Amino acid sequence: MINLKGVSKIYRINDISFHALDHVNLEINDGEMIAIQGRSGAGKSTLLHILGCLDTFDTGTYTLNSIDIGSQSTAKLAHIRNSTIGFVLQDFSLINHKTALYNVKAPMLFNKTPFFEMKKKAMGALYDMGIPEQAEKDVLKMSGGQRQRVAIARAIVNDTPVILADEPTGNLDSTTADEIMQIFVKLHKQGKTIIIVTHDDHIASFCDRIIKISDGKIV
Ligand SMILES: Nc1ncnc2c1ncn2[C@@H]1O[C@H](COP(=O)(O)OP(=O)(O)OP(=O)(O)O)[C@@H](O)[C@H]1O
Ligand SMILES: [Mg+2]
Repeated sequence: MINLKGVSKIYRINDISFHALDHVNLEINDGEMIAIQGRSGAGKSTLLHILGCLDTFDTGTYTLNSIDIGSQSTAKLAHIRNSTIGFVLQDFSLINHKTALYNVKAPMLFNKTPFFEMKKKAMGALYDMGIPEQAEKDVLKMSGGQRQRVAIARAIVNDTPVILADEPTGNLDSTTADEIMQIFVKLHKQGKTIIIVTHDDHIASFCDRIIKISDGKIV
């Protein structure tokens, strides 16, 4: 379970403090599928990065599965991230000039997956995404939808319970975007907690609950 209480993120530029997040309270139960919506600059990515333990915060508490995130060391946080959270980003953030298989194997280099199991697990994830035949292809030679499938395969390969996605369909046409959302719905039905940042009402309609954020506040 995810629980934020009074979480703020403050950027200080010269003498001016800017609240990118302003005392956010938020509870997300295991297995929920959530959309985070709001205008550009509202604080959506900031919130997602904090939820993903990629970014620190200035006030409040964040409890993730009973762990107090604010008091963890960097090394501990990296471990929590690796075992709990998978990320999917708008621009795919794949390693270019490398194959799909290489990209999906990458997160396993940072945990204790035995070397001989990496290929099997990565192929399993690519199979789940419907693109096992693309395994040996350079990701640069793939379509947007195929690349996003590789990115989701990479996000699920460690079998983390939580998936965070920042505008995962932002660079895709509407048909491909729907296909990608069907994949998230399937993962949700398998029990994963899914949190998706999106501008798009249609994309948000795939989710059980919509959280609206404006000027760093949940509204
Ligand atoms: N490193 C930073 N330093 C200063 N201000 C920042 C920094 N990162 C983000 N901000 C500011 O914090 C606010 C929230 O940014 P954030 O990226 O969370 O918005 P967003 O809702 O994801 O917007 P978009 O839809 O455009 O991606 C913005 O006003 C942004 O300019
Ligand atoms: Mg953003």
